[in-house]
Amino acid sequence: MTATPSQRNAPDIRQFVATLHSTPYPAIDPALVKLPSPYVVCIIGGGGAAGGGLARAYARAGASGIILAARNRQRLEEAAKEIRSIAPNAKVVVAGCDIASDTSLGELATTTRTEFNGRLDVVVANAGYSGLIIADVLQETAEDCETAFNVNTIGTFNAARHFLPLLLATKSGAKSFLAICSMAAPMVAGPMAHTHYCVSKAAQARIIEMIYEQYAGQGLFCASVHPGGLKSEFAKAMPEDMLHLLTEHPDLVGAFCLWLTKPEAWRQKKALNGRFLSCKWDVNELEGRFDEILDKDLLRLRFAVKYQKLPTNNLLTSYGYYKVYADLLQTTRLYCKFQPFGRCTEYYSEVNFIDTE
Ligand SMILES: NC(=O)c1ccc[n+]([C@@H]2O[C@H](COP(=O)([O-])OP(=O)(O)OC[C@H]3O[C@@H](n4cnc5c(N)ncnc54)[C@H](OP(=O)(O)O)[C@@H]3O)[C@@H](O)[C@H]2O)c1
Repeated sequence: MTATPSQRNAPDIRQFVATLHSTPYPAIDPALVKLPSPYVVCIIGGGGAAGGGLARAYARAGASGIILAARNRQRLEEAAKEIRSIAPNAKVVVAGCDIASDTSLGELATTTRTEFNGRLDVVVANAGYSGLIIADVLQETAEDCETAFNVNTIGTFNAARHFLPLLLATKSGAKSFLAICSMAAPMVAGPMAHTHYCVSKAAQARIIEMIYEQYAGQGLFCASVHPGGLKSEFAKAMPEDMLHLLTEHPDLVGAFCLWLTKPEAWRQKKALNGRFLSCKWDVNELEGRFDEILDKDLLRLRFAVKYQKLPTNNLLTSYGYYKVYADLLQTTRLYCKFQPFGRCTEYYSEVNFIDTE
């Protein structure tokens, strides 16, 4: 095992809070949410397990418009039938789309704009590709790698390019862009660590972090969400002896995403914006860690480095935590707590706190 301590302990993120759920529970029950009208949600990959759970949650909460997009329109029509039976007053639109195609995403954005007069509150990039689960780069295939990146990573990137303008232009909208990610993102070792999938999902999470940096200032909320283990078409690639890990109900991820994006969600939007989350985490316990998440900037990807304390006169102006570039470690970005017009009072690195302290 050659992984650094921070990578070896990466799976600990699963247990970020003590209580984990497999089914929806009262704190995130969609039936207790009343969305304003209009409220429009677009789910790219809207026909499978997680997609169905997402659509049901927003339908139960009273979304006025739901767009289900995927490649197979027939499967989508079946999903749409169920959603219409849950929310007979909602406008449910089925749209063919391949997230791996920029043109197709552009057409989906046009359909969304036309069908809902430019209104869009939430986009979920849910489509995913795994390929063969073999934790050995020599046995993985170039085709799997290419498809995983085209669907999971480039698809999310292009979905952001096409849909962010609509989200940002929607007056009083939820302005929310979610990527259904995976616990594979922080993974580097173990039988499930197939390189092409894990890395494509890590890159997807990084895209969310960068979108946050670029657009949170304009009111955008974005997050990467692990949907739990779902018995689905997608999960058929899993080895037989791992199938027992698929314990989550697809409605859990739907209810969790609704909890993140409902109008009164300002506290979670402030604390969790741009971060990697799991729908399994109990939201009351998660709320109990909001201050710590913000203070330590948790739940983001990091490089692990060791650092030396800086000379205290090495100051640059910025805001909040002042960014300082070390003389000794030119390439390492460090942060220091700063007193206005004073000296740095405390240093820490942009890395895993547990490892470096
Ligand atoms: N299942 C799990 O245990 C698990 C665990 C961790 C993360 N995830 C993530 O959760 C997400 C959903 O997985 P799932 O288990 O719900 O899968 P699923 O049941 O197979 O559903 C996937 C959905 O995405 C659509 N899709 C697939 N490729 C697409 C493409 N290129 N363009 C547009 N739509 C596409 C599928 O419809 P079409 O085939 O008709 O396009 C379907 O609607 C994925 O991102 C996956 O990585 C799943």
